[in-house]
Amino acid sequence: MRYRKQGLKRVGILTGGGDCPGLNAVIRAVTKTVINQYCGQVIGFEDGYAGVINGIYHTLTYKQVSGILTQGGTILGTSNKSSPFEKAIHPDTQIKMTKTLKKTLSTIHNCKIDVLMCIGGDGTLSIAEGLFRMGIPVIGIPKTIDNDLEGTDFTFGFNTAVQIASDAVDRLHSTAMSHHRVMVVEVMGRYAGWLALYSGVAGGGDIILIPEIPYKLDVICKRVLERHRKGKRFSIIVIAEGAKPVGGTMMVSKRINQSPDPIRLGGISRVLANQIEEETGLEVRVTNLGHLQRGGTPTVFDRLLATRFGVEAVHRASDHDFGTMVALRGKQIVTCRLRDAVLKLKKVSTDDPFIQSAQSVGTSFGI
Ligand code: F6P
Repeated sequence: MRYRKQGLKRVGILTGGGDCPGLNAVIRAVTKTVINQYCGQVIGFEDGYAGVINGIYHTLTYKQVSGILTQGGTILGTSNKSSPFEKAIHPDTQIKMTKTLKKTLSTIHNCKIDVLMCIGGDGTLSIAEGLFRMGIPVIGIPKTIDNDLEGTDFTFGFNTAVQIASDAVDRLHSTAMSHHRVMVVEVMGRYAGWLALYSGVAGGGDIILIPEIPYKLDVICKRVLERHRKGKRFSIIVIAEGAKPVGGTMMVSKRINQSPDPIRLGGISRVLANQIEEETGLEVRVTNLGHLQRGGTPTVFDRLLATRFGVEAVHRASDHDFGTMVALRGKQIVTCRLRDAVLKLKKVSTDDPFIQSAQSVGTSFGI
């Protein structure tokens, strides 16, 4: 079918926040669907909301989006520094008209777009929700390696990051075994432990530490010493960047002024490694996977999810289903209200079945 419905002439699209594998797959899916099925046009804003605020955009051609399905990153560029709003925005925040917001609204008006598709995590989608409250027809598409958005079982990008992190855990096993060392692997995920939990379980980590379950150092030390005594003279600890000890706080690695999300976490693996070395006398090494987790080609799962999200977002736009986010529930692509998706972060529950399975096979959560 080449032509589906009338009424979708110009679609605006932007990618905001940290990049992740699958962004290009969404851009391709949206653009090809709009051209093939609606005979419409797609306007790509550059570098997230910066492009909307400053009026920097271009038409995306069929040729430009051909061959990008497997490419990491985003052909539109992204940024987590620009926002049309003065401060970090939340569904309960009162919106104040500012010069930047006026510039944003005027770009959207001048472009004559029927819808603005915002691809991003909670920061980008909170802004999208704010723009919707200002009367802009908006649809959200959930991306993040953190998988911390409510309303969707999975965000795209997460599966790829889990694959990268669990590959790293696999590789660390052989060197840990040879040297009889404790290996501490730090993974991203911000305030949620999804990435550490999934990659830790998939990689057979001996101890998994996540923000939702504050750990006890003595329990961790006891576990690695016990493994040594039983002849397993190495241990792999997968730690989320947001993990913290009981009664402690998360490690902040950087504060970024002017960013709607100014806190960057990181560095807890080094602290923990020093403490384990001191307490047990064992040799400990640290691997911080950092931005490797966001680079390169998306997995098959993420390519499929990103494609389905992009196609569905276009059809939802043609039905004027604005103020929504496309989401995965079981096998279905559905929509939920943007407001519900960004009200609070989706965290790992302490009775998550993954935690129970991990505990059944002997994995410790440091408590
Ligand atoms: O939200 C995605 C994410 O990769 C987090 O896991 C991490 O804490 C953060 O972004 C890193 O941000 P930046 O790319 O600004 O260093």
